[in-house]
Amino acid sequence: MNTEKTKGLSTDPYKGVRDFYPEDMFILNYIFGVMRKTVEKFGYQEYSASILEPTELYKAKSGEEIINEQTYSFKDRGDRDVTLRPEMTPTVTRMVAARKRELVFPLRWYSIPNLFRYEKPQRGRLREHYQLNVDLFGVVSNDAEVEIIALAHQIMRQFGAQEDNFIIRVNNRKTINYILEEVFTLDPHQAYKALKLIDKKDKMTPAEFKEKATEFFKKRTQFFLDLLNAKTIEDMTEVAIAEGSTEILGTKEVTDVMHRLKLMGVKNAVFDPTLARGFDYYTGVVFEVFDTSPDNPRALFGGGRFDDLLSVFGSDKVPAFGFGMGDVTIRDYLETYNLLPEIRSKTDIMLCLLDDSVHIFADTFAQKLRREQLNVAIDMSGKKVGQQIENANKSKIPYIIVIGEDEIKNSQFKLKNLESGKEIVLPSEKDIADIILKTPEQQ
Ligand code: HAM
Repeated sequence: MNTEKTKGLSTDPYKGVRDFYPEDMFILNYIFGVMRKTVEKFGYQEYSASILEPTELYKAKSGEEIINEQTYSFKDRGDRDVTLRPEMTPTVTRMVAARKRELVFPLRWYSIPNLFRYEKPQRGRLREHYQLNVDLFGVVSNDAEVEIIALAHQIMRQFGAQEDNFIIRVNNRKTINYILEEVFTLDPHQAYKALKLIDKKDKMTPAEFKEKATEFFKKRTQFFLDLLNAKTIEDMTEVAIAEGSTEILGTKEVTDVMHRLKLMGVKNAVFDPTLARGFDYYTGVVFEVFDTSPDNPRALFGGGRFDDLLSVFGSDKVPAFGFGMGDVTIRDYLETYNLLPEIRSKTDIMLCLLDDSVHIFADTFAQKLRREQLNVAIDMSGKKVGQQIENANKSKIPYIIVIGEDEIKNSQFKLKNLESGKEIVLPSEKDIADIILKTPEQQ
């Protein structure tokens, strides 16, 4: 016997990616819907692009880790180096650079691309995820920071999140660079390595971090750790001044942003000097949104200012600030806080047939209902009507109409709400549509 044939191919998806069955699509579409509705409220326009990009796009400024360890890269048949996009920021920047002269700034753009990263699959981290990207191009001032962070906060609130259950951490790359290059006088190469160390801080024990930090800061390591441990900007300034340093660059910007956010009702933004963000292209304020519960230790959003990225296309600088928000982490979050919507079918009515002879009538009847804007399916299983009703219920379809010779003869149809069990006899498809579409309280 051919054993290979009986064993068959695996039905598992490729490692670290997901299949989306209709119930998963329901959730994904709900998530996308909330994202879209919120960003459009702030005046953002949707754009899109291919998942394929020339590999060199990421070499410029994404960072070594993403290029060397996390990309899906290959050579195409024409010997070109191609990468499945691991993030959208280089793509959107390329698109802006390509049409810089025609576009009207400030530009408010969003997209929900699928991204590919060769990561070790684990809770909150997969090899393919969807990521809402929201970016504001053309604003030099902190107006951009304030709008975008307030928008991120608004998305969380739209999902039903309470302010106590998430936190917005804010820092400034200028602050980190000032500490590394001015306070500790590291050369740019050392400073870059120290920044990467800060970015990895949460993945190490405090002792490991201290040991690695000593390589850069030698006798002044404790001073460095004290700066990073500061809970507020005032604390950090105090530590710096006590060691003979001055006010730290970039902290005033963060104070201003947090103050303005408070005025807009965002009360859960905090300064976090350990927040570095992995990508090389960030130039100013950076932020991440975290769940306050230890069940979901990963960032829900991450973003920042990237004023220099357009220059890799030989274009003049265009200031930019934006973020990415993944579907995997927000779904975990919504599950944790019981915020996921109940799964419902998009089909309003299933027509259940008493016998096959009524099928021709059902076809035209369904068409009439569809013209009344209802979503209608016909049970073609040939099963007993009781079974048909049960299946409609299992498929979470809210209404059924049983069609038999008598119903056709009398032109009277019983619309049954499967949840309440209520039945209403109705003569026309218009009445049926009125009941379902115009009186939602009866559903
Ligand atoms: P990022 O921090 O790499 O930033 O990703 C942003 C968010 O995408 C994360 O906070 C997380 O929710 C989600 N995410 C990232 N990687 C994965 C993964 N492997 N599996 C599941 N979810 C993931 C960026 O990508 C920047 N390009 C964002 C940005 C836009 N900065 C400015 N504009």
